[in-house]
Amino acid sequence: MNPKFQPLFQPYTLNNGVEIKNRLVVAPMTHFASNKDGTLGEQERRFIGNRAGDMGMFILAATLVQDGGKAFHGQPEAVHESQLESLKATAGIIKAQGAKAILQLHHGGKQSITELLNGKDKISASADDATGTREATHEEILSLIDAFGKATDLAIRAGFDGVEIHGANNYLIQQFYSGHSNRRSDEWGGSREKRMRFPLAVIEAVVSAKAKHNANDFIVGYRFSPEEPEELGITMEDTLALIDVLKEQPLQYLHISLWDFYKKVRRGADPAACRIQLVHQQIGGKLPLIGVGNIYTADEMLEAFNTGWAEFIALGKTVMVNPDIATRILNGEESSIQRAIDPEQADHYGFSDTLWNFTISGTQAWLPPLKGQEAKIIDI
Ligand SMILES: Cc1cc2nc3c(=O)[nH]c(=O)nc-3n(C[C@H](O)[C@H](O)[C@H](O)COP(=O)(O)O)c2cc1C
Repeated sequence: MNPKFQPLFQPYTLNNGVEIKNRLVVAPMTHFASNKDGTLGEQERRFIGNRAGDMGMFILAATLVQDGGKAFHGQPEAVHESQLESLKATAGIIKAQGAKAILQLHHGGKQSITELLNGKDKISASADDATGTREATHEEILSLIDAFGKATDLAIRAGFDGVEIHGANNYLIQQFYSGHSNRRSDEWGGSREKRMRFPLAVIEAVVSAKAKHNANDFIVGYRFSPEEPEELGITMEDTLALIDVLKEQPLQYLHISLWDFYKKVRRGADPAACRIQLVHQQIGGKLPLIGVGNIYTADEMLEAFNTGWAEFIALGKTVMVNPDIATRILNGEESSIQRAIDPEQADHYGFSDTLWNFTISGTQAWLPPLKGQEAKIIDI
C-alpha cells in the first residue's frame, strides 16, 4: 500500500471496547434484491457477497421493522421470527468477509409503497394527502417503537455485530423530527423537544433489547439527515440540537447522510460552513462520526478523512462500481478505481436486475454515472 493511505487503515476502538479494524465503511445500499417475503434473495447474496472485504464495517440496506413500512421492492425484513434464519445467513455472508455486520433498521412512514403495505394503513407522524398517509395513533406509535426493539432482538440473535437506526433520508424517524412532516399537537409533536421524543424512544427500545441480551459489544449507531428543503423542515439549528441530545445517548456512533461530503449549510447556522464540520464540532469528540458523500477515489477518501470532520468514511456508489475497493488500496492498485459504470460489463457488477436497470437508464442522480456521463450530485 502507498503509505500515505495508512491513516484510512488505522483501527478505531468504540466506547464499548469493540475495535473496528479501519476507517472505511460500506454505506447502506438498498439493492432491490431480497425475496418478496423479506428473506435473503439470490441476487442479494451476490450483491453483498464481495463488497465487505477489507472494510471496517458493512451497513446492510435499510431493513424493514414492521409490516406497513416497506419503501422499496425487494427490501430485507427483520419483522418476523420466521426471518431469523435468513438474517443469520445475511450476517454470515458479511462477517465471513471480515467486516463488522451492521443491520440498518427502517420504516418508510409516508414514503412506504402503497402496494407493499401488507394490508396495513400507511401511517406517519401526521397525515399526508399526497401519499395517502394517515396520522398514527398513540398506540400505533408505541407499537412502531416496539418494532425497532424487536428487530434489534432478531439482529442480535442472528449474529449481527450491530444495528444502525435509520433516522435519515425522510423516512419515518425523520418524519417525526421534522416540523414539516410532524404537525401533531400531542406529546409526539409541537415543540422541538416533543418532535425528538419518537427518535429517542426508538433509541431506548433498541438499547433495551441490547441490554436484555447483555450484549455490551453490540454496536448501535444512529443516522440522520442534517437539513430539509421545506420551509418548516429540519434546519442545521434543529440538527445541532438533536446532536446535543444524541451525543449523550448510549450509542457507539453517529452517521450523517449527505450526497456531498462538503455540502454547505442551507440555513440555521453559518452558510459558509460545511454541514459535517459543524456536526463534528457539536459532537465534541463524544462519539465518532461517519461521513459520506460523493467520495470515489483513494485520494478523495484521504482528503475527506484529513479534514478531521469524520472518524469514518462511508462509501456508496464507488463500492457499487468497485466492489473490492479497500483491497485494491491495500494492494497499491488504487489507480484502477473507476468512477463510472460500463453498461457493457458482463456481470452487471453483481447488481440485481432492478438496480441494474435503474443504473443503465442513466437518469437516476443517486446512482453512479455511466461511462462518458458527468456525475450528478443530489442537492438536498
Ligand atoms: C443504490 C443506493 C441505495 C441506497 N440505499 C440506502 C439505504 O438503504 N439506506 C440509507 O441510509 N442510505 C441509502 N443510500 C444512500 C447511501 O448510503 C449514501 O449516503 C449515498 O449514496 C451517498 O454516498 P455515495 O456518494 O458514496 O454513494 C443509498 C444509495 C445508493 C446509491
